[in-house]
Amino acid sequence: MTLLIVGATGTLGRQVARRAIDEGYKVRCLVRSQKKAAFLKEWGAELVPGDLCYPQTLQAALEGVTAVIDAATSRPTDSQSIKQVDWEGKVSLIQASVGAGVERFIFFSIINAEKYPEVPLMEIKRCTELFLAESGLNYTVLRLAGFMQGLIGQYGIPILEGQPVWVTSESSPIAYMDTQDIARFAIRCLSLPETQKRTFPVVGTRAWSTQEIISLCERLSGKEAKVTRMPIGLLRTVRRLLRFFQWGWNVADRLAFTEVLASGIPLDAPMEEVYRVFGLDPKDTTTLESYLQEYFSRIMKKLKELDYEKNQKKKKKEKRTPFKKANS
Ligand SMILES: NC(=O)c1ccc[n+]([C@@H]2O[C@H](COP(=O)([O-])OP(=O)(O)OC[C@H]3O[C@@H](n4cnc5c(N)ncnc54)[C@H](OP(=O)(O)O)[C@@H]3O)[C@@H](O)[C@H]2O)c1
Repeated sequence: MTLLIVGATGTLGRQVARRAIDEGYKVRCLVRSQKKAAFLKEWGAELVPGDLCYPQTLQAALEGVTAVIDAATSRPTDSQSIKQVDWEGKVSLIQASVGAGVERFIFFSIINAEKYPEVPLMEIKRCTELFLAESGLNYTVLRLAGFMQGLIGQYGIPILEGQPVWVTSESSPIAYMDTQDIARFAIRCLSLPETQKRTFPVVGTRAWSTQEIISLCERLSGKEAKVTRMPIGLLRTVRRLLRFFQWGWNVADRLAFTEVLASGIPLDAPMEEVYRVFGLDPKDTTTLESYLQEYFSRIMKKLKELDYEKNQKKKKKEKRTPFKKANS
């Protein structure tokens, strides 16, 4: 079975590619930059140049492909907008997959997408789910909450470095999941006909509030967080102002996501039925405690080693300068 992974250089996509290669699938990745994707080639994937926003690049990439796993999304740092990548680009990918006779299509959506028609990314996810359902493809939609990997930059590093941790004044609890676990569900779909033409939530073991995550990081790192709260009202005003300028549309669309956080509705879902259908054991899913514990103990060990090396170098230097005491 040949898989085409789109977005394989991303946080989730790379875990999907790793898992697929480990399980013996022939993996092809559609990439915008060969240089950025060099690690995928080293892992054993075939790289094909392409871009969702250039539909003419998709046909060649899909030749001989049995299944597509789409883990792409617009980058906040890119000039391409959410609408161009996540809507127009995905429509092109789905249409090209139908044309190429692809047998399976896995799409990552977001939990509760239908509840926020005013939030562009949520509305686009909901519309893509509908478009897929009507495409005739044997699709599976996996609706995600948040990634544990994102918490390192948001909380872990600033807390360790004594930098401010920026949080919104209100925030919905989120059932974060390790992307390695999400990848396990995605690859599993391919061998389970009962997951065809169905939508499943794929979320972590429980929903965590911002305050709970900060307290956990403080406990595991032994450091106190410097928390700076941004009022939701301020973010709403900035968003409205940005809508006046075309260059600000992309940022405004992203800021709209604060409405999801401000709603107080948890990004969470029951998972018992999902584990049953997928034949997976919930005990194998990484908890947030164990994920962050592993991160902090690895970093603390590294810091201790660096401190030890620094002390050793200092001692050596002191030995080499016999007149140090007399001079000081
Ligand atoms: N992050 C979360 O917490 C979260 C939560 C719920 C759902 N999701 C969903 O999970 C999926 C993966 O998200 P992620 O956070 O792993 O994404 P990510 O790290 O931002 O990676 C995005 C990927 O999409 C690729 N891409 C962007 N524009 C493209 C284009 N025009 N043509 C082809 N490829 C393009 C990027 O390639 P380059 O390397 O070339 O930029 C990169 O590989 C998305 O569907 C996202 O909506 C994410």
